[in-house]
Amino acid sequence: MKVMKVGLLGLGVVGEGTWKLLRSNMGELERRTGVRIEVTQVAVRDLAKARAKIGDAVPLTQDGLDVVRSPDVDVVVELMGGLNPAYDWVMEAIAQGKHVVTANKALLAERGNEIFQAAREKGVIVAFEAAVAGGIPVVKALREGLTANHIQWVAGIINGTTNFILSEMRTRGLTFKQALAEAQELGYAEADPTFDVEGIDAAHKLTLLASLAFGIPVPFGKAHAEGISDLTRKDVANAERLGYRIKLLGITRRTEKGIELRVHPTLIPAESLLANVSGAMNAVLVNGDAVGSTLYYGAGAGQMPTASAVVADLVDVARMASALPDHQVPHLGFQAAAMANTPILSM
Ligand code: NDP
Ligand code: HSE
Repeated sequence: MKVMKVGLLGLGVVGEGTWKLLRSNMGELERRTGVRIEVTQVAVRDLAKARAKIGDAVPLTQDGLDVVRSPDVDVVVELMGGLNPAYDWVMEAIAQGKHVVTANKALLAERGNEIFQAAREKGVIVAFEAAVAGGIPVVKALREGLTANHIQWVAGIINGTTNFILSEMRTRGLTFKQALAEAQELGYAEADPTFDVEGIDAAHKLTLLASLAFGIPVPFGKAHAEGISDLTRKDVANAERLGYRIKLLGITRRTEKGIELRVHPTLIPAESLLANVSGAMNAVLVNGDAVGSTLYYGAGAGQMPTASAVVADLVDVARMASALPDHQVPHLGFQAAAMANTPILSM
């Protein structure tokens, strides 16, 4: 059987989940793809911690360049987070002609244009389903299922940590701080949770969704981002008393003047669909001219749901890379050329 060798950069919440899922569902994945997906190298900072998770099964290193340059690695899976060294290691993987799977929305929102350009030139895949809305296949929905549509708007709950915090403040009366600590404990939060609670993580994801939905270059820095860190239990309870719930929404839409992108806490009628999305669940509504409104719902953060999206990307890579000759793999990044000059509204 053909083997696809995977180099993992990062073995934290998502990296460990990916490792576990590849092992637990190995037989099924082999039957579906005809390819054995095997982790052959792993990079982490703390070698002892990683050994405790995966034993002596694969070589470990602290230098990701060892992984991306290894002849024993065909596909690089970046699950470290942050901009550096993730950017350098991803670019080196592309330069080496290796396909990349990443869950790193911060990296793609800030450097996606360069990364996808490099991937296009090299004819390699950069897949990123896990970067938006955790386990929900919304990237695939926009790229494939809704591809016939002129997308009008995308809106929803796209950060699990803040949705968990707001839900727990409402239902269990936790303080903001207590709820955030639980979200961190459960593996939902970013390494720097400021990204979650100040709306930056949601803005990163919204940026990627806008790029996919409207065919524009990744409009980094253009999203208005406002978080939930100033909200108290009293605010949450007052909203409830008035028949509303507070949700952190990301909204991007076409307007006559250009494309709008905003993330902010919003009062939503308590009986509405989005108001009843609780815990770390996400829900994304997409409106297209032909299909109307569609809804994508599921776990937006956490180990195994996110691993589900990472492994789905690996399966895509396995199928495409084995079906097509080198340098003819379809481009999975943003189809930016046609809409490159669309104005993005700064708010
Ligand atoms: P963690 O902090 O749990 O794990 C990060 C991993 O990367 C650790 O194994 C860490 O090593 C390793 N790492 C970090 N920096 C370096 C470095 N310089 N050199 C080598 N290894 C390094 O993060 P998560 O797993 O939660 O997140 C990973 C990515 O997935 C992020 O981009 C995040 O935004 C994204 N994501 C996370 C989701 C979630 O629910 N957690 C959901 C969707 C996306 P060590 O442990 O040794 O320090
Ligand atoms: N910190 C992110 C969240 C992880 O809570 O949504 C999933 O992208």
